[in-house]
Amino acid sequence: MLNSSIRYQDDRLYCDAIPVQTIVEQVGTPLYLYSLRRAIENYHQIRDAFAGLGGHVHYSAKANANLSLLRALVSAGAGIDCVSGGEIYKALLAGCAPEQIVFAGVGKSADDLRYAVEHRIGWINIENEAECQVINRLASERGQTARIALRYNPDVSANTISKIATGHSGAKFGLSADAIRSILERQAEFPTLRIQGIHIHIGSQLGDTLATLEAVRSTLTLIAPYHQIRTIDIGGGIPTQYRSEQALPNPAAFASALMPYLGSYDVLIEPGRSIIADAGLVVASVLYTKEHGGQKFVVLDTGMTELMRPALYDAHHEIVPLTRRAGEFETVDVVGPVCETTDSLAHARLLPALSPGDLVALLTAGAYGFVMASTYNARPRPPEVVVDLDGQTWRVARRRETWDDLIAHES
Ligand SMILES: Cc1ncc(COP(=O)(O)O)c(C=O)c1O
Repeated sequence: MLNSSIRYQDDRLYCDAIPVQTIVEQVGTPLYLYSLRRAIENYHQIRDAFAGLGGHVHYSAKANANLSLLRALVSAGAGIDCVSGGEIYKALLAGCAPEQIVFAGVGKSADDLRYAVEHRIGWINIENEAECQVINRLASERGQTARIALRYNPDVSANTISKIATGHSGAKFGLSADAIRSILERQAEFPTLRIQGIHIHIGSQLGDTLATLEAVRSTLTLIAPYHQIRTIDIGGGIPTQYRSEQALPNPAAFASALMPYLGSYDVLIEPGRSIIADAGLVVASVLYTKEHGGQKFVVLDTGMTELMRPALYDAHHEIVPLTRRAGEFETVDVVGPVCETTDSLAHARLLPALSPGDLVALLTAGAYGFVMASTYNARPRPPEVVVDLDGQTWRVARRRETWDDLIAHES
């Protein structure tokens, strides 16, 4: 979706003060482009909405772990939510203080847990009782303690697409209420663990605040007898507008719904998508058009290898030309070059007539975009370009991969 940073001026698409075409002329396509200004504005909006709750924002690096973005968010005051040793490594490299890092994940390896304990990161969110034993051993070997939140699976149905819902009982995530009570009753078995928090994350791109409220109410009932639990981490899930007709709750709606419940707790929040999705886009070139079986296809140089969300979740991304001009519209399938039928970016989409050489942007692609890119079909991954906070300068924040990069780890 277009917004204050990604917008048209005189029919040309801009990222802040830079015409996107200017960047393409120097960097080529496919290309990821992010407005750091927009990302920080989104961060400020969430931080300010949750200020009344004393909420602290830990940006969820899984959405986009580009170092330039992490650095900008850390400088603006965000902590980082990580799901692997690699993300912790990047968060530390970006200057995040270890105590401002939370580490979650359903399958943390012993090596990653050791790395987290060694670096004394702020919180480890446990999703399995066996993790308690592993962390207890790692911490006691080093004469340390570790601060722990237990991830609760509250068995609620989030209003989102099924593939990104995480808070129902059939999902692999979190611990049941019984498992949490069992761990808390047996805390003495884990003397190095300071179990002081509870974590919930019921899904991403939440369509309303209802399931979050239900999850929070259930959490409060669960932890009421355990007075050492003073921190509630409510996870991510604040949605982003991918289509203009969507009516979605904003950060303030979540904060005000939660205010009556969480006022006496320390609150952590882990937004990912809502910070970077609408600050990013993918720029692609039209390679060919063709018509058969009653369908017209527009073939881009960009596909599921660069932006996997349409193939993975049938996700919708608006597609717009870099230069708007008067003319015909036509209904087309926009597809990528990868040898998979699922490599389709838009089906039966009404777009301005496109010809080979035209440039288009896939909007709202900053989250779960580049981080899911692959080199399938031996396609080097695209560069990531950022427009800096001043809105005036741009730079390649991650260079385009080369064929040599493709073979760098092979012998
Ligand atoms: C535990 C956890 N926290 C935070 C997030 C970020 O969610 P979102 O990008 O919807 O804000 C996720 C994403 O799925 C997650 O699993």
